[in-house]
Amino acid sequence: MTDIREGKGRTALITGASAGIGKAFAHEFARHGFDLILTARREDRLKALADELTKEHGVNVHVIADDLADPGAPGRIVSWIDGQGLTVDALVNNAGYAVPGVFTATQWEDQQRFIQVLVTAGCELAHRLMPGMIERKYGRIINVASLAGIAPGTAGHTLYGASKAFMIKFSQSLHLEGERHNVFASALCPGFTYSEFHDVTGVRGEVSKLPKYMWMDAAPVVAQGYRAVMQGKTIHVPGGFNKFVAFLARVLPGPVALNMVRRRSRQFRKQEG
Ligand SMILES: NC(=O)c1ccc[n+]([C@@H]2O[C@H](COP(=O)([O-])OP(=O)(O)OC[C@H]3O[C@@H](n4cnc5c(N)ncnc54)[C@H](OP(=O)(O)O)[C@@H]3O)[C@@H](O)[C@H]2O)c1
Repeated sequence: MTDIREGKGRTALITGASAGIGKAFAHEFARHGFDLILTARREDRLKALADELTKEHGVNVHVIADDLADPGAPGRIVSWIDGQGLTVDALVNNAGYAVPGVFTATQWEDQQRFIQVLVTAGCELAHRLMPGMIERKYGRIINVASLAGIAPGTAGHTLYGASKAFMIKFSQSLHLEGERHNVFASALCPGFTYSEFHDVTGVRGEVSKLPKYMWMDAAPVVAQGYRAVMQGKTIHVPGGFNKFVAFLARVLPGPVALNMVRRRSRQFRKQEG
């Protein structure tokens, strides 16, 4: 049964809330009684979602559209929140995508924007918002990482796995620093999840051939991610198949795991260039 007391009188900031996993997180936090601040670039989608969530759950939903590839965005978002007299009790760093192709075939500017969105923006939001959480003795931070942050690196989408591994270690450190103040951080590590991710990244053709048992819907992924952070679990891999892959990545000798990835990764990574 849903416990709406957890979120009553509290507010969650969710990045990348206009689609996929972020949108599902907005539903999950609203279901638990949290008011919401939703951000992404597509304001029309955020506004439509805000109306839907207010009607469905009776929570207050605020929308601030911004582009996290702009280094000024996290500061702008937090200033706007302060200006509205709001506080953030839960942060979901979720916005993300991947840059297809091998490293040298991409433009450095694209990689720089990628690092800004997937790594720097999330760290800056946590850095700006965690002191308030510590002061108020309550905070929950979910960093949406990936199974790619646990498995060996792949050819193609070069910085993707590295950025997710970064967010996993970052979550562990944040949790150790925050737990005595009742501020918990958790890295959620989904595998293949139905969303717009693979369309945006241009690999829908490749991944649509993968068997169904490798896929999850966004709703169960986020329900598990929500539960994990509330329970103070620093890393959570949702789903039986994903847990099995994470287990293999941990127990297989490094070169064996890397060879498996070398053989299989063409099925889900663009490696031309
Ligand atoms: N789907 C999977 O299989 C999978 C697996 C493991 C991990 N993940 C991770 O899950 C997270 C969410 O991805 P998803 O699968 O839900 O993909 P999605 O459906 O494509 O949603 C991505 C979200 O990120 C936002 N976003 C992208 N670039 C942004 C930018 N520059 N500034 C602000 N917002 C931006 C998008 O909003 P706008 O376009 O409106 O800005 C959208 O709301 C990502 O971190 C991804 O790496 C996904």
